[in-house]
Amino acid sequence: MCGIVAYIGNKEAYPILIKGLERLEYRGYDSAGVAILESEIKVFKRAGKVQELKDYASGHNTAGNIGIGHTRWATHGEPNERNAHPHSSSDSNIAIIHNGIIENYAPLKEELKKRGHEFLSDTDTEVLVHLIEDVQKNNNVDLFEAVRIALNEVTGAYAIVVLSKDNPNQLIGARKGSPLVVGMGNEEFFIASDATPIIEYTKNVVYLDDEEIALIDRYNGLSIKTIANQIKTPYVHELEMQLEMLEKGGYEHFMLKEIYEQPRSIYDSMRGRIDSKRGDIYMGGMLEYKNVLTNADRIIITACGTSWHAALVAEYLFEDLARVPVEVEYASEFRYRNPIINPGDVVIAISQSGETADTLAAIELAKQKGATVFGVCNVVGASIPRATHAGAYTHAGPEIGVASTKAFTAQVTVLIQMALWLAYNKGAINQAKLARYLVELEAIPAKVEEALKSAEEVEKMAKIIARSENALYLGRGYNFPVALEGALKLKEISYIHAEGYPAAEMKHGPIALIDENMPVVVLATKNSQYDKMVSNIQEVKARKGKVFAIVTKGDVEVKAMADRWIEIPDCPEELSPLVSSIPLQLLSYHVALLRDCNVDQPRNLAKSVTVE
Ligand code: F6R
Repeated sequence: MCGIVAYIGNKEAYPILIKGLERLEYRGYDSAGVAILESEIKVFKRAGKVQELKDYASGHNTAGNIGIGHTRWATHGEPNERNAHPHSSSDSNIAIIHNGIIENYAPLKEELKKRGHEFLSDTDTEVLVHLIEDVQKNNNVDLFEAVRIALNEVTGAYAIVVLSKDNPNQLIGARKGSPLVVGMGNEEFFIASDATPIIEYTKNVVYLDDEEIALIDRYNGLSIKTIANQIKTPYVHELEMQLEMLEKGGYEHFMLKEIYEQPRSIYDSMRGRIDSKRGDIYMGGMLEYKNVLTNADRIIITACGTSWHAALVAEYLFEDLARVPVEVEYASEFRYRNPIINPGDVVIAISQSGETADTLAAIELAKQKGATVFGVCNVVGASIPRATHAGAYTHAGPEIGVASTKAFTAQVTVLIQMALWLAYNKGAINQAKLARYLVELEAIPAKVEEALKSAEEVEKMAKIIARSENALYLGRGYNFPVALEGALKLKEISYIHAEGYPAAEMKHGPIALIDENMPVVVLATKNSQYDKMVSNIQEVKARKGKVFAIVTKGDVEVKAMADRWIEIPDCPEELSPLVSSIPLQLLSYHVALLRDCNVDQPRNLAKSVTVE
């Protein structure tokens, strides 16, 4: 949520900042701006996408070796040019970019106004840059100290970078609750919200921790202090990410590329963890906490959005296979409702980005109450894997499309392995049964490959659904969370109102919506509830609803009732969400294309939700 990039070195800053903003655009695309220091600070900003900024800046002098850039997801103030970052101090000598929310900005603003500060925007960020200016002038301190003192006065979340005319060889970055990473190049430095704008130039990065302030001096390098003035030693990580992972690789959209990457990303999420021949499963993070896990009376799983749907799949898995009670919680509700968590409870937090503010807060709460917290996260080094006791990475690779696809199936792949590990270690399944599941799991990437071949048939379905303003998605058992996820995908990228429901629940209300205009997508694969699902489909047909069915290869009964259908390969019901979610992802993609929607950057959304 909001992308930050900054550069200091020997090169021209502007092209690096623009390229960085394009890579970060998935984090927010309401407005974009850069500030570059030559002899003065030059600020260029525009409402809308990075392209608007590029078009505007092309006729101007953008020269300079130090600069900051920002792509915004609006919180305070409309997404217009006035509110776009960077924001400047009264004397225009300091510029700032910010990701997060300064919660006490209103009283600070009032106080600063009384002291003569005038504000040009509606943002909380502008208050922060004026505060830094005010502190520096009144306390006669250097910029770093002014930033440190100012940050002690604000509450809320921030990742910031500060540029000052009077400090032409320095950049200052700080974080609390929003991510910030420093790239250590050869006589050049980068600061960014994540590693995507940096990877092209260096693999050596330092992740800042909460309440840390980094001073980057072009000639003296990086030094870090906390806002409480403690000196910290930077720890340099080596990135494993490859540049190609951040590019479209011939696909029209990142989302399509990521859908088609799934055979590989699912495989990567189990690689090195399972041995089907021996019937063995290795989960490093879980092994360390074997006693806690096998003795847990219950497991709480918390997440948001698509990751919450993966949590629902996990509820079925853990209860079914490991026979341990599971509760699934929206992180945003869990953190505020004084939940009962006891020492000995296990909490699993799921997040693609590893930065979701509500999920992070839920983790902190669970830790305070004595739970052992596991993370299932995709982004290596993000805040969530660093805040949890242990966990497992999903290895899906960078997900750039705002609608989550390969991250979901990678999460489910890891959760299946966690459930199997626990089931085996608790004695709920024996080694022979574990081995059979592992053989089936190994077969999944090929089945996903086959499911991807349904694209032609999906396009035909999409043509009908694209004309509708509503859709229902129905499933039972393991297919119920898949129905929720299918509906979310459709609404977020094609803006069609879609609801996911447990199929049997339909008759308790939503059935009133069904008429000849209502497309009903049914997940009717061969599983333990197939016959029940057939009855539910009949209920839809009886009300003239249009049935679009996902069925198992060779199906006869549902096909005979459906208006259109897509076949997917057979697989054990516990693993089926990995395959049945594929045609639904493709369906939402094609519907969005037909409706001329921006598939990778749907309106109002951002990839990484770092505000609550
Ligand atoms: C939907 C989507 C969101 C995220 C949610 C949680 O396609 O991407 O619903 O799943 O914002 O994000 P993470 O998984 O990063 O915590």
